[in-house]
Amino acid sequence: MNKKRFTVTSALPYANGPLHIGHIAGAYLPADIFVRYQKLKGNDVVFICGSDEHGAAITLRAKKDGVTAKEIVDKYHKINKQAFKDFGISFSIYHRTSSDLHHETAKEIFINLKNNNRLTKKVSQQFYDEENKQFLADRYITGICPKCGHDHAYGDQCEKCGSTLSPDELINPKSTLSGNSPIKKETSHWYLPMQDHENWLKDWIENGLLDGENHHDPKNWKNQVLGQCKSWIDGGLKERAMTRDLDWGVEVPLEGEEGKVLYVWMDAPIGYISATKKWAKDNDKNWEDYWKNDSSELIHFIGKDNIVFHCIIFPIILKLNKNFNLPTNVPANEFLNLEGEKLSTSRNWAIWLHEYLEEFKGQEDSLRYSLCATAPESKDTDFTWSDFQARNNNELVAIYGNFINRVVVLTNKYWDGVIPEQCALNEYDKEVLESLSKYPQLIGSSIEKYRFREALHELMNLARLGNKYLADTEPWKLKKTDENRTKTIMNIALQVAASLSILSEPFLPFSSNTLKEMLNISDLCWEDARKQNLHAGTSIDKANLLFAKIEDETIEKQILKLKS
Ligand code: MF3
Ligand code: ZN
Repeated sequence: MNKKRFTVTSALPYANGPLHIGHIAGAYLPADIFVRYQKLKGNDVVFICGSDEHGAAITLRAKKDGVTAKEIVDKYHKINKQAFKDFGISFSIYHRTSSDLHHETAKEIFINLKNNNRLTKKVSQQFYDEENKQFLADRYITGICPKCGHDHAYGDQCEKCGSTLSPDELINPKSTLSGNSPIKKETSHWYLPMQDHENWLKDWIENGLLDGENHHDPKNWKNQVLGQCKSWIDGGLKERAMTRDLDWGVEVPLEGEEGKVLYVWMDAPIGYISATKKWAKDNDKNWEDYWKNDSSELIHFIGKDNIVFHCIIFPIILKLNKNFNLPTNVPANEFLNLEGEKLSTSRNWAIWLHEYLEEFKGQEDSLRYSLCATAPESKDTDFTWSDFQARNNNELVAIYGNFINRVVVLTNKYWDGVIPEQCALNEYDKEVLESLSKYPQLIGSSIEKYRFREALHELMNLARLGNKYLADTEPWKLKKTDENRTKTIMNIALQVAASLSILSEPFLPFSSNTLKEMLNISDLCWEDARKQNLHAGTSIDKANLLFAKIEDETIEKQILKLKS
Protein backbone atom coordinates (compact mmCIF):
# COMPACT_ATOMS: atom_id res chain seq x y z
CA MET A 1 0.00 0.00 0.00
CA ASN A 2 1.20 3.47 -0.83
CA LYS A 3 1.55 5.59 2.27
CA LYS A 4 -0.07 9.00 2.00
CA ARG A 5 0.96 12.11 3.86
CA PHE A 6 -1.47 14.53 5.47
CA THR A 7 -1.04 17.90 7.13
CA VAL A 8 -4.23 18.35 9.10
CA THR A 9 -4.98 21.60 10.89
CA SER A 10 -7.73 22.65 13.27
CA ALA A 11 -8.50 26.38 13.59
CA LEU A 12 -6.27 27.92 16.24
CA PRO A 13 -8.67 28.96 18.99
CA TYR A 14 -8.28 32.46 20.42
CA ALA A 15 -6.65 32.19 23.83
CA ASN A 16 -9.20 34.59 25.28
CA GLY A 17 -11.54 32.13 26.94
CA PRO A 18 -12.30 28.47 27.48
CA LEU A 19 -13.58 26.06 24.83
CA HIS A 20 -17.20 25.02 24.57
CA ILE A 21 -18.94 22.19 22.76
CA GLY A 22 -19.61 24.37 19.71
CA HIS A 23 -15.88 24.75 19.11
CA ILE A 24 -15.35 21.03 19.62
CA ALA A 25 -18.10 19.91 17.26
CA GLY A 26 -16.95 22.40 14.63
CA ALA A 27 -13.24 22.07 14.14
CA TYR A 28 -11.65 19.67 16.61
CA LEU A 29 -13.58 16.43 16.99
CA PRO A 30 -14.03 15.85 13.23
CA ALA A 31 -10.35 16.55 12.67
CA ASP A 32 -9.37 14.15 15.43
CA ILE A 33 -11.55 11.38 13.97
CA PHE A 34 -10.01 11.97 10.55
CA VAL A 35 -6.46 11.96 11.91
CA ARG A 36 -6.88 8.86 14.06
CA TYR A 37 -8.39 7.05 11.10
CA GLN A 38 -5.59 8.04 8.71
CA LYS A 39 -3.00 6.92 11.24
CA LEU A 40 -4.73 3.56 11.67
CA LYS A 41 -4.57 3.24 7.88
CA GLY A 42 -0.81 3.56 8.20
CA ASN A 43 -0.60 7.06 6.71
CA ASP A 44 1.82 9.74 7.81
CA VAL A 45 -0.11 12.52 9.52
CA VAL A 46 0.83 15.67 11.36
CA PHE A 47 -2.06 17.20 13.29
CA ILE A 48 -1.53 20.89 13.98
CA CYS A 49 -3.18 23.24 16.42
CA GLY A 50 -2.33 25.88 19.01
CA SER A 51 -3.42 29.15 20.52
CA ASP A 52 -4.24 32.19 18.41
CA GLU A 53 -2.85 34.82 20.78
CA HIS A 54 -3.07 38.03 18.81
CA GLY A 55 -5.77 40.34 17.59
CA ALA A 56 -8.48 42.40 19.14
CA ALA A 57 -10.17 39.30 20.56
CA ILE A 58 -7.32 39.09 23.04
CA THR A 59 -6.66 42.75 23.80
CA LEU A 60 -10.32 43.58 24.27
CA ARG A 61 -10.71 40.68 26.68
CA ALA A 62 -7.64 41.79 28.64
CA LYS A 63 -9.01 45.30 28.88
CA LYS A 64 -12.35 44.01 30.10
CA ASP A 65 -10.71 41.86 32.79
CA GLY A 66 -8.28 44.61 33.78
CA VAL A 67 -5.21 42.44 33.14
CA THR A 68 -2.49 42.35 30.48
CA ALA A 69 -2.88 40.56 27.17
CA LYS A 70 -0.01 38.30 28.17
CA GLU A 71 -1.81 37.22 31.33
CA ILE A 72 -4.90 36.35 29.30
CA VAL A 73 -3.10 34.24 26.70
CA ASP A 74 -0.94 32.45 29.28
CA LYS A 75 -4.01 31.53 31.26
CA TYR A 76 -6.17 30.24 28.42
CA HIS A 77 -3.36 28.60 26.49
CA LYS A 78 -2.81 26.35 29.48
CA ILE A 79 -6.49 25.64 30.13
CA ASN A 80 -7.30 24.89 26.48
CA LYS A 81 -4.25 22.77 25.85
CA GLN A 82 -5.11 20.63 28.87
CA ALA A 83 -8.81 20.35 27.98
CA PHE A 84 -8.00 19.14 24.44
CA LYS A 85 -5.59 16.58 25.84
CA ASP A 86 -8.06 15.30 28.43
CA PHE A 87 -10.72 15.01 25.74
CA GLY A 88 -8.43 12.85 23.61
CA ILE A 89 -7.85 15.34 20.78
CA SER A 90 -4.57 13.95 19.50
CA PHE A 91 -2.70 16.99 18.21
CA SER A 92 0.91 16.36 17.24
CA ILE A 93 1.63 19.78 18.71
CA TYR A 94 -0.32 22.55 20.43
CA HIS A 95 1.74 25.60 19.64
CA ARG A 96 1.42 29.34 20.36
CA THR A 97 1.44 32.31 18.04
CA SER A 98 3.24 34.31 20.74
CA SER A 99 6.34 32.12 20.32
CA ASP A 100 9.52 33.56 18.82
CA LEU A 101 9.52 30.94 16.11
CA HIS A 102 6.07 32.03 15.01
CA HIS A 103 6.97 35.72 15.01
CA GLU A 104 10.04 34.99 12.85
CA THR A 105 8.03 32.83 10.45
CA ALA A 106 5.24 35.38 10.05
CA LYS A 107 7.72 38.24 9.52
CA GLU A 108 9.60 36.26 6.92
CA ILE A 109 6.46 35.58 4.93
CA PHE A 110 5.37 39.23 5.16
CA ILE A 111 8.79 40.47 4.00
CA ASN A 112 8.76 37.98 1.19
CA LEU A 113 5.45 39.33 -0.08
CA LYS A 114 6.62 42.90 0.25
CA ASN A 115 9.94 42.31 -1.50
CA ASN A 116 8.18 40.63 -4.38
CA ASN A 117 5.88 43.63 -4.72
CA ARG A 118 2.86 41.60 -3.72
CA LEU A 119 1.73 44.18 -1.17
CA THR A 120 0.87 47.81 -1.76
CA LYS A 121 1.37 50.57 0.76
CA LYS A 122 -1.44 53.06 1.00
CA VAL A 123 -2.29 56.07 3.10
CA SER A 124 -5.91 56.35 4.13
CA GLN A 125 -8.29 57.88 6.61
CA GLN A 126 -9.25 55.39 9.30
CA PHE A 127 -11.55 55.46 12.26
CA TYR A 128 -9.91 56.72 15.42
CA ASP A 129 -11.12 56.88 19.02
CA GLU A 130 -10.05 60.26 20.40
CA GLU A 131 -10.76 59.35 24.00
CA ASN A 132 -8.59 56.22 23.88
CA LYS A 133 -6.12 57.61 21.33
CA GLN A 134 -6.32 54.49 19.22
CA PHE A 135 -7.13 53.51 15.65
CA LEU A 136 -10.18 51.29 15.41
CA ALA A 137 -10.06 48.21 13.22
CA ASP A 138 -11.76 44.83 13.29
CA ARG A 139 -13.43 44.20 16.61
CA TYR A 140 -12.64 47.64 17.93
CA ILE A 141 -15.49 48.94 15.91
CA THR A 142 -19.09 47.78 15.63
CA GLY A 143 -22.06 48.94 13.67
CA ILE A 144 -24.97 47.79 11.56
CA CYS A 145 -24.16 45.19 8.90
CA PRO A 146 -24.81 46.67 5.44
CA LYS A 147 -25.65 43.20 4.11
CA CYS A 148 -28.07 41.78 6.69
CA GLY A 149 -28.88 44.58 9.11
CA HIS A 150 -27.39 42.82 12.14
CA ASP A 151 -26.70 45.55 14.67
CA HIS A 152 -23.50 44.12 16.10
CA ALA A 153 -21.30 43.56 13.06
CA TYR A 154 -17.56 44.05 13.54
CA GLY A 155 -15.25 46.13 11.40
CA ASP A 156 -13.93 43.04 9.62
CA GLN A 157 -16.83 40.63 9.65
CA CYS A 158 -20.50 40.16 10.40
CA GLU A 159 -20.86 37.04 12.48
CA LYS A 160 -24.56 36.84 11.71
CA CYS A 161 -24.39 36.57 7.91
CA GLY A 162 -20.70 35.73 7.56
CA SER A 163 -19.89 38.67 5.25
CA THR A 164 -16.41 40.09 5.35
CA LEU A 165 -16.55 43.81 5.85
CA SER A 166 -14.35 46.84 6.08
CA PRO A 167 -14.98 49.41 8.82
CA ASP A 168 -16.15 51.94 6.24
CA GLU A 169 -19.05 49.72 5.24
CA LEU A 170 -20.56 49.66 8.74
CA ILE A 171 -23.65 51.75 9.23
CA ASN A 172 -23.50 54.00 12.31
CA PRO A 173 -20.03 52.85 13.46
CA LYS A 174 -19.15 53.05 17.16
CA SER A 175 -15.92 52.47 19.05
CA THR A 176 -16.10 49.38 21.23
CA LEU A 177 -13.65 51.05 23.61
CA SER A 178 -15.59 54.20 24.44
CA GLY A 179 -18.90 53.69 22.69
CA ASN A 180 -18.32 57.03 20.93
CA SER A 181 -18.66 57.75 17.25
CA PRO A 182 -15.13 57.73 15.91
CA ILE A 183 -13.36 60.44 13.93
CA LYS A 184 -11.21 59.84 10.85
CA LYS A 185 -7.45 60.10 10.99
CA GLU A 186 -4.67 59.46 8.51
CA THR A 187 -2.53 56.32 8.69
CA SER A 188 -0.66 54.05 6.29
CA HIS A 189 -0.96 50.30 5.81
CA TRP A 190 0.15 47.42 3.63
CA TYR A 191 -2.57 45.88 1.50
CA LEU A 192 -2.94 42.54 -0.22
CA PRO A 193 -4.57 43.18 -3.61
CA MET A 194 -6.83 40.16 -3.60
CA GLN A 195 -8.49 41.24 -6.83
CA ASP A 196 -5.26 40.33 -8.66
CA HIS A 197 -5.84 36.70 -7.74
CA GLU A 198 -9.45 36.27 -8.74
CA ASN A 199 -8.76 34.27 -11.87
CA TRP A 200 -6.65 31.48 -10.54
CA LEU A 201 -8.65 31.35 -7.29
CA LYS A 202 -11.84 30.85 -9.24
CA ASP A 203 -10.31 28.17 -11.37
CA TRP A 204 -8.74 26.46 -8.39
CA ILE A 205 -11.87 26.45 -6.26
CA GLU A 206 -14.34 25.56 -8.99
CA ASN A 207 -12.28 23.13 -11.01
CA GLY A 208 -9.52 22.08 -8.66
CA LEU A 209 -6.97 23.12 -11.26
CA LEU A 210 -3.76 24.93 -10.65
CA ASP A 211 -1.13 25.37 -13.35
CA GLY A 212 -2.73 22.48 -15.15
CA GLU A 213 -2.26 20.17 -12.23
CA ASN A 214 -5.12 18.56 -10.43
CA HIS A 215 -4.84 19.66 -6.85
CA HIS A 216 -8.23 18.72 -5.54
CA ASP A 217 -11.53 17.44 -6.73
CA PRO A 218 -14.18 20.09 -6.05
CA LYS A 219 -16.75 17.29 -5.87
CA ASN A 220 -15.22 16.42 -2.49
CA TRP A 221 -15.73 19.91 -1.10
CA LYS A 222 -18.81 20.67 0.91
CA ASN A 223 -21.50 22.54 -0.98
CA GLN A 224 -21.74 25.31 1.55
CA VAL A 225 -17.96 25.89 1.39
CA LEU A 226 -17.94 26.04 -2.41
CA GLY A 227 -21.02 28.26 -2.32
CA GLN A 228 -19.46 30.78 0.04
CA CYS A 229 -16.22 30.90 -1.94
CA LYS A 230 -18.00 31.36 -5.24
CA SER A 231 -20.16 34.14 -3.92
CA TRP A 232 -17.14 36.03 -2.60
CA ILE A 233 -15.23 35.67 -5.80
CA ASP A 234 -18.22 36.52 -7.95
CA GLY A 235 -18.89 39.55 -5.76
CA GLY A 236 -15.40 40.79 -6.64
CA LEU A 237 -12.39 40.60 -4.35
CA LYS A 238 -10.92 43.79 -2.94
CA GLU A 239 -7.62 44.77 -1.45
CA ARG A 240 -7.34 44.00 2.24
CA ALA A 241 -5.04 45.58 4.82
CA MET A 242 -2.49 43.15 6.22
CA THR A 243 -1.31 45.50 8.97
CA ARG A 244 -2.92 47.24 11.91
CA ASP A 245 -2.19 50.12 14.30
CA LEU A 246 -1.97 48.07 17.49
CA ASP A 247 0.65 47.31 20.09
CA TRP A 248 -0.14 43.59 20.42
CA GLY A 249 0.83 41.16 17.69
CA VAL A 250 3.66 40.40 15.29
CA GLU A 251 5.50 43.67 14.68
CA VAL A 252 5.73 44.87 11.11
CA PRO A 253 9.40 44.13 10.31
CA LEU A 254 10.14 47.41 8.58
CA GLU A 255 11.97 50.48 9.71
CA GLY A 256 9.80 53.47 10.40
CA GLU A 257 6.74 51.29 10.95
CA GLU A 258 6.98 50.92 14.68
CA GLY A 259 3.66 50.64 16.46
CA LYS A 260 2.16 48.56 13.68
CA VAL A 261 1.54 44.84 13.73
CA LEU A 262 0.41 42.22 11.22
CA TYR A 263 -3.31 41.71 10.80
CA VAL A 264 -4.22 38.77 13.03
CA TRP A 265 -5.75 36.92 10.08
CA MET A 266 -2.47 37.22 8.26
CA ASP A 267 -0.43 35.93 11.17
CA ALA A 268 -2.70 33.24 12.66
CA PRO A 269 -2.88 30.80 9.71
CA ILE A 270 0.90 31.12 9.36
CA GLY A 271 0.76 29.65 12.88
CA TYR A 272 0.02 26.30 11.22
CA ILE A 273 3.37 26.54 9.47
CA SER A 274 5.37 27.66 12.49
CA ALA A 275 3.77 24.91 14.60
CA THR A 276 4.80 22.36 11.99
CA LYS A 277 8.34 23.74 12.07
CA LYS A 278 8.51 23.34 15.84
CA TRP A 279 7.05 19.83 15.72
CA ALA A 280 9.46 18.82 12.96
CA LYS A 281 12.40 20.16 14.92
CA ASP A 282 11.40 18.22 18.03
CA ASN A 283 10.67 15.02 16.13
CA ASP A 284 13.49 14.86 13.66
CA LYS A 285 11.33 15.57 10.62
CA ASN A 286 11.50 18.03 7.77
CA TRP A 287 8.64 20.53 7.94
CA GLU A 288 8.77 21.21 4.22
CA ASP A 289 7.74 17.62 3.51
CA TYR A 290 4.41 18.56 5.07
CA TRP A 291 3.90 21.87 3.28
CA LYS A 292 5.78 21.87 0.02
CA ASN A 293 5.63 18.32 -1.16
CA ASP A 294 3.15 17.49 -3.90
CA SER A 295 2.36 14.15 -2.35
CA SER A 296 1.22 15.74 0.88
CA GLU A 297 -2.39 16.80 1.39
CA LEU A 298 -3.25 19.91 3.39
CA ILE A 299 -6.63 19.82 5.11
CA HIS A 300 -8.08 22.63 7.23
CA PHE A 301 -10.85 21.82 9.70
CA ILE A 302 -12.69 25.00 10.69
CA GLY A 303 -16.07 26.51 11.55
CA LYS A 304 -18.06 28.29 8.85
CA ASP A 305 -17.08 31.77 10.07
CA ASN A 306 -13.48 31.03 9.02
CA ILE A 307 -14.12 30.00 5.41
CA VAL A 308 -12.93 33.16 3.64
CA PHE A 309 -9.67 33.19 5.57
CA HIS A 310 -8.83 29.57 4.74
CA CYS A 311 -10.17 29.37 1.20
CA ILE A 312 -9.20 32.77 -0.15
CA ILE A 313 -6.79 34.89 1.90
CA PHE A 314 -4.44 32.19 3.21
CA PRO A 315 -4.29 30.35 -0.15
CA ILE A 316 -3.23 33.64 -1.80
CA ILE A 317 -0.46 34.02 0.77
CA LEU A 318 0.62 30.40 0.29
CA LYS A 319 0.62 30.66 -3.47
CA LEU A 320 2.66 33.86 -3.44
CA ASN A 321 5.29 32.23 -1.26
CA LYS A 322 6.24 29.63 -3.85
CA ASN A 323 6.04 25.89 -3.56
CA PHE A 324 3.56 25.81 -0.74
CA ASN A 325 0.68 23.40 -1.19
CA LEU A 326 -2.84 24.73 -1.27
CA PRO A 327 -5.47 22.90 0.77
CA THR A 328 -7.01 19.84 -0.83
CA ASN A 329 -10.06 20.36 1.31
CA VAL A 330 -11.52 22.76 3.85
CA PRO A 331 -14.32 20.76 5.46
CA ALA A 332 -15.93 23.62 7.39
CA ASN A 333 -18.77 22.80 9.73
CA GLU A 334 -21.85 24.87 10.39
CA PHE A 335 -22.80 25.93 13.92
CA LEU A 336 -24.00 23.87 16.85
CA ASN A 337 -26.78 25.33 19.00
CA LEU A 338 -27.54 24.37 22.57
CA GLU A 339 -31.08 23.59 23.72
CA GLY A 340 -32.48 25.52 20.77
CA GLU A 341 -30.43 28.67 21.26
CA LYS A 342 -27.19 30.03 19.87
CA LEU A 343 -24.17 29.31 22.05
CA SER A 344 -23.12 32.50 23.76
CA THR A 345 -20.09 33.18 25.89
CA SER A 346 -21.37 36.48 27.21
CA ARG A 347 -24.71 34.96 28.27
CA ASN A 348 -22.89 31.88 29.58
CA TRP A 349 -25.13 29.75 27.36
CA ALA A 350 -22.62 27.00 26.77
CA ILE A 351 -21.26 23.71 27.95
CA TRP A 352 -17.63 24.38 28.74
CA LEU A 353 -15.31 21.53 27.87
CA HIS A 354 -13.13 21.80 30.97
CA GLU A 355 -16.22 21.75 33.19
CA TYR A 356 -17.67 18.71 31.44
CA LEU A 357 -14.38 16.88 31.84
CA GLU A 358 -14.38 17.69 35.55
CA GLU A 359 -18.01 16.70 36.14
CA PHE A 360 -18.15 13.64 33.86
CA LYS A 361 -14.83 11.98 34.63
CA GLY A 362 -14.32 8.81 32.62
CA GLN A 363 -17.18 9.75 30.27
CA GLU A 364 -15.23 11.60 27.61
CA ASP A 365 -16.46 9.21 24.94
CA SER A 366 -20.10 9.88 25.79
CA LEU A 367 -19.66 13.52 24.77
CA ARG A 368 -17.51 12.60 21.77
CA TYR A 369 -20.24 10.23 20.68
CA SER A 370 -23.16 12.61 20.99
CA LEU A 371 -21.25 15.54 19.46
CA CYS A 372 -20.28 13.41 16.49
CA ALA A 373 -23.80 12.05 16.11
CA THR A 374 -25.29 15.56 16.03
CA ALA A 375 -22.39 17.38 14.37
CA PRO A 376 -23.44 20.33 12.17
CA GLU A 377 -21.91 18.84 9.03
CA SER A 378 -24.23 20.35 6.48
CA LYS A 379 -26.57 22.57 8.49
CA ASP A 380 -26.79 24.06 11.97
CA THR A 381 -27.82 21.45 14.53
CA ASP A 382 -28.95 21.39 18.13
CA PHE A 383 -27.34 19.75 21.14
CA THR A 384 -29.66 18.96 24.03
CA TRP A 385 -28.87 17.32 27.34
CA SER A 386 -31.73 14.89 26.92
CA ASP A 387 -30.47 13.79 23.51
CA PHE A 388 -27.03 13.36 25.07
CA GLN A 389 -28.52 11.15 27.78
CA ALA A 390 -30.60 9.13 25.32
CA ARG A 391 -27.65 8.52 23.02
CA ASN A 392 -25.49 7.44 25.92
CA ASN A 393 -28.07 5.19 27.56
CA ASN A 394 -29.89 3.79 24.53
CA GLU A 395 -26.98 3.49 22.13
CA LEU A 396 -23.62 3.33 23.86
CA VAL A 397 -24.79 1.46 26.96
CA ALA A 398 -27.70 -0.58 25.61
CA ILE A 399 -26.23 -1.61 22.27
CA TYR A 400 -22.46 -1.35 22.19
CA GLY A 401 -21.72 -1.75 25.90
CA ASN A 402 -24.26 -4.51 26.31
CA PHE A 403 -22.82 -6.53 23.46
CA ILE A 404 -19.25 -6.24 24.71
CA ASN A 405 -20.26 -7.02 28.24
CA ARG A 406 -22.09 -10.20 27.25
CA VAL A 407 -19.19 -11.42 25.15
CA VAL A 408 -16.56 -10.80 27.79
CA VAL A 409 -18.62 -11.99 30.76
CA LEU A 410 -19.70 -15.23 29.07
CA THR A 411 -16.19 -16.06 27.86
CA ASN A 412 -14.95 -15.64 31.40
CA LYS A 413 -17.82 -17.59 32.88
CA TYR A 414 -17.69 -20.54 30.49
CA TRP A 415 -13.99 -20.91 29.79
CA ASP A 416 -12.23 -18.77 32.36
CA GLY A 417 -11.43 -16.18 29.72
CA VAL A 418 -9.81 -18.59 27.27
CA ILE A 419 -11.05 -17.92 23.73
CA PRO A 420 -12.94 -20.96 22.46
CA GLU A 421 -12.36 -22.45 19.02
CA GLN A 422 -14.66 -22.23 16.03
CA CYS A 423 -16.30 -25.55 15.13
CA ALA A 424 -18.58 -26.01 12.12
CA LEU A 425 -19.94 -22.70 10.75
CA ASN A 426 -23.54 -22.44 9.66
CA GLU A 427 -24.92 -19.97 7.12
CA TYR A 428 -25.71 -17.33 9.72
CA ASP A 429 -22.16 -17.48 11.12
CA LYS A 430 -20.72 -17.08 7.65
CA GLU A 431 -23.03 -14.18 6.94
CA VAL A 432 -21.94 -12.37 10.09
CA LEU A 433 -18.25 -12.85 9.27
CA GLU A 434 -18.90 -11.74 5.73
CA SER A 435 -20.62 -8.53 6.78
CA LEU A 436 -17.96 -7.91 9.41
CA SER A 437 -15.34 -7.91 6.66
CA LYS A 438 -17.09 -5.01 4.91
CA TYR A 439 -17.13 -2.55 7.80
CA PRO A 440 -13.61 -1.08 7.55
CA GLN A 441 -14.27 -0.04 3.99
CA LEU A 442 -17.78 1.16 4.75
CA ILE A 443 -16.80 3.32 7.73
CA GLY A 444 -13.55 4.43 6.11
CA SER A 445 -15.16 5.71 2.94
CA SER A 446 -17.58 7.85 4.95
CA ILE A 447 -14.70 9.31 6.95
CA GLU A 448 -12.81 10.05 3.75
CA LYS A 449 -15.85 12.00 2.56
CA TYR A 450 -15.90 13.93 5.85
CA ARG A 451 -19.24 12.34 6.68
CA PHE A 452 -18.51 11.54 10.28
CA ARG A 453 -22.11 11.12 11.40
CA GLU A 454 -22.65 8.51 8.72
CA ALA A 455 -19.40 6.79 9.68
CA LEU A 456 -20.42 6.67 13.34
CA HIS A 457 -23.79 5.28 12.36
CA GLU A 458 -22.08 2.46 10.45
CA LEU A 459 -19.91 1.74 13.46
CA MET A 460 -23.02 1.38 15.60
CA ASN A 461 -24.52 -0.89 12.98
CA LEU A 462 -21.63 -3.26 13.56
CA ALA A 463 -22.35 -3.23 17.30
CA ARG A 464 -26.02 -3.83 16.45
CA LEU A 465 -25.00 -6.76 14.26
CA GLY A 466 -23.08 -8.30 17.16
CA ASN A 467 -25.90 -7.68 19.57
CA LYS A 468 -28.45 -9.22 17.25
CA TYR A 469 -26.26 -12.22 16.55
CA LEU A 470 -26.12 -13.04 20.25
CA ALA A 471 -29.82 -12.35 20.76
CA ASP A 472 -30.69 -14.62 17.81
CA THR A 473 -28.35 -17.48 18.65
CA GLU A 474 -28.73 -17.34 22.46
CA PRO A 475 -25.49 -19.14 23.32
CA TRP A 476 -26.39 -18.99 27.03
CA LYS A 477 -29.20 -21.47 26.34
CA LEU A 478 -26.93 -23.88 24.47
CA LYS A 479 -24.01 -24.19 26.82
CA LYS A 480 -25.38 -27.27 28.61
CA THR A 481 -26.57 -29.08 25.50
CA ASP A 482 -24.25 -28.04 22.66
CA GLU A 483 -20.76 -27.04 23.74
CA ASN A 484 -19.39 -26.90 20.19
CA ARG A 485 -22.13 -24.58 18.97
CA THR A 486 -21.64 -22.35 22.02
CA LYS A 487 -17.92 -22.15 21.32
CA THR A 488 -18.44 -21.23 17.70
CA ILE A 489 -20.94 -18.48 18.48
CA MET A 490 -18.78 -16.98 21.16
CA ASN A 491 -15.69 -17.10 19.00
CA ILE A 492 -17.48 -15.19 16.26
CA ALA A 493 -18.90 -12.67 18.72
CA LEU A 494 -15.38 -12.14 20.06
CA GLN A 495 -14.12 -11.42 16.51
CA VAL A 496 -16.81 -8.76 16.16
CA ALA A 497 -15.77 -7.27 19.50
CA ALA A 498 -12.15 -7.14 18.36
CA SER A 499 -13.07 -5.35 15.14
CA LEU A 500 -15.18 -2.91 17.11
CA SER A 501 -12.18 -2.10 19.28
CA ILE A 502 -10.23 -1.08 16.17
CA LEU A 503 -12.98 0.68 14.23
CA SER A 504 -14.23 2.64 17.24
CA GLU A 505 -10.82 4.15 17.98
CA PRO A 506 -11.22 7.34 15.91
CA PHE A 507 -14.57 8.11 17.52
CA LEU A 508 -14.28 6.65 21.01
CA PRO A 509 -10.57 6.38 21.81
CA PHE A 510 -10.95 5.91 25.56
CA SER A 511 -13.35 2.97 25.43
CA SER A 512 -11.51 1.56 22.42
CA ASN A 513 -8.45 1.41 24.60
CA THR A 514 -10.31 -0.21 27.49
CA LEU A 515 -11.74 -2.76 25.10
CA LYS A 516 -8.38 -3.57 23.54
CA GLU A 517 -6.99 -4.11 27.01
CA MET A 518 -9.89 -6.40 27.88
CA LEU A 519 -9.31 -8.42 24.73
CA ASN A 520 -5.53 -8.33 25.07
CA ILE A 521 -4.93 -6.91 21.64
CA SER A 522 -2.67 -4.13 20.47
CA ASP A 523 -0.97 -2.82 17.36
CA LEU A 524 -3.72 -3.70 14.94
CA CYS A 525 -4.41 -1.46 11.97
CA TRP A 526 -7.63 -0.43 10.26
CA GLU A 527 -7.60 -3.18 7.63
CA ASP A 528 -7.08 -5.85 10.30
CA ALA A 529 -10.64 -5.20 11.39
CA ARG A 530 -11.81 -7.10 8.29
CA LYS A 531 -10.27 -10.29 9.60
CA GLN A 532 -10.50 -12.50 12.64
CA ASN A 533 -7.97 -11.21 15.12
CA LEU A 534 -8.55 -13.32 18.24
CA HIS A 535 -7.00 -16.75 18.41
CA ALA A 536 -8.52 -19.75 20.16
CA GLY A 537 -6.54 -20.73 23.23
CA THR A 538 -5.39 -17.21 24.10
CA SER A 539 -6.99 -15.39 27.02
CA ILE A 540 -8.98 -12.24 27.50
CA ASP A 541 -9.36 -10.24 30.72
CA LYS A 542 -12.28 -9.78 33.06
CA ALA A 543 -15.12 -7.51 31.98
CA ASN A 544 -14.71 -3.81 32.57
CA LEU A 545 -17.68 -1.52 31.95
CA LEU A 546 -17.19 0.57 28.79
CA PHE A 547 -20.02 3.06 29.32
CA ALA A 548 -22.00 4.05 32.41
CA LYS A 549 -25.67 4.89 32.40
CA ILE A 550 -26.43 8.59 32.91
CA GLU A 551 -29.23 9.18 35.41
CA ASP A 552 -32.03 11.73 35.16
CA GLU A 553 -30.73 13.67 38.18
CA THR A 554 -27.41 14.25 36.46
CA ILE A 555 -29.14 15.70 33.42
CA GLU A 556 -31.54 17.80 35.49
CA LYS A 557 -28.59 19.24 37.38
CA GLN A 558 -26.91 20.26 34.13
CA ILE A 559 -30.05 21.88 32.75
CA LEU A 560 -30.47 23.83 35.97
CA LYS A 561 -26.85 24.93 35.85
CA LEU A 562 -27.28 26.11 32.29
CA LYS A 563 -30.36 28.15 33.15
CA SER A 564 -28.95 29.68 36.32
N1 MF3 B 1 -8.88 32.26 16.28
C1 MF3 B 1 -9.76 32.16 15.15
C2 MF3 B 1 -11.19 31.91 15.62
O1 MF3 B 1 -11.38 31.42 16.68
C3 MF3 B 1 -9.36 31.04 14.24
C4 MF3 B 1 -7.99 31.19 13.70
S1 MF3 B 1 -7.68 29.98 12.57
C5 MF3 B 1 -6.20 30.41 11.93
O2 MF3 B 1 -12.11 32.20 14.91
F1 MF3 B 1 -6.06 29.86 10.81
F2 MF3 B 1 -6.11 31.67 11.74
F3 MF3 B 1 -5.29 30.06 12.74
ZN1 ZN C 1 -24.50 40.62 8.32
